[in-house]
Amino acid sequence: MNGKTPGHLGIIMDGNGRWAKARGLARTQGHLEGLKAAKRIVKAASDRGVSYLTLYTFSTENWKRAADEVGFIMGLVRQYLRAELDFYRENSIRIRHAGDIGGLPPEIREDIARAMEDTRDFTGMQVILALNYGGRDEIIRAVNRALNGAGGPDAGFTEARLRSFLDNPDVPDPDLIIRTAGEFRTSNFLLWEGAYAEYHISEKFWPDFAEADLDQALASYGRRDRRFGGIPSPGAP
Ligand code: FPP
Repeated sequence: MNGKTPGHLGIIMDGNGRWAKARGLARTQGHLEGLKAAKRIVKAASDRGVSYLTLYTFSTENWKRAADEVGFIMGLVRQYLRAELDFYRENSIRIRHAGDIGGLPPEIREDIARAMEDTRDFTGMQVILALNYGGRDEIIRAVNRALNGAGGPDAGFTEARLRSFLDNPDVPDPDLIIRTAGEFRTSNFLLWEGAYAEYHISEKFWPDFAEADLDQALASYGRRDRRFGGIPSPGAP
C-alpha cells in the first residue's frame, strides 16, 4: 500500500476501432471520440495532482494502417495542439513530445514546436504526446545520439548515461501505466522508462474511459506495494 497518486501516469489508449465497430461506425469515428476521452482525462489527471501524463497517441508501427486512418489521426492531433491553448493556459498545462519527431510530416512538427513553445513556462501537469513513438526506436535513437555525442563510441554505457540520451531525460519514470480495451501488452510503450511501472488494465474501450475509471486505476495503484526488486515494505500484505 503506497496510498499515493502516481507522479507520472502513462496511458495506452486502446480500443477506438473496436468501439466504433461495435456501433457500426467507421474507425475514424472511434478516434474522434478517443480525442474527447483524451481531453476529459487530461483535465481529470491534472485535477487529481498527476505531474506528468504520457499519452500513447501514435506508435512507430501505426504507419502500417490505411492512409486515410493515419491522415485522420494526424488531423486530430493537429486540432488538439492548435485549439487547446486557452485550456492549457487555464490549467497551466505544458505540452511535450516523445518519439521520432523527424519522421513526422512538417506541418505536425511545426504544430508540436509551437504548442511546446507556447506552454513552456506553464508549471502544472506536463502532457507528453507520444507520437511516432516506439520504445525500441527511442532506445536506438538514444544509443546513436550517445555514439555521436561527447565521449563518442568509446565512452561506454551506464544506465544513467543511456537515460540521459532518451527523449525526455528529465521526466521521471512512469509509476503507473493504464491500458484500456482489456489487452495485456506493453506494445512498445516506454520500454526503458517503464521497467518498474505498475500496470492497470481496464476493460473499457478508450472512448468510454471516464473519470470514474481513472479513479479506479488510481485507487488500485494506491494499494500496490512497490518493491523495485527489493523486499516488501513493513506492514505490506
Ligand atoms: C488505439 O485504438 C488508438 C490509436 C492508435 C489512436 C489514438 C488517438 C487518439 C485517441 C486521438 C488523438 C489523441 C490526442 C491526445 C491528440 P485502435 O485504433 O488501435 O483500436 P482497436 O485496437 O480497437 O482497433
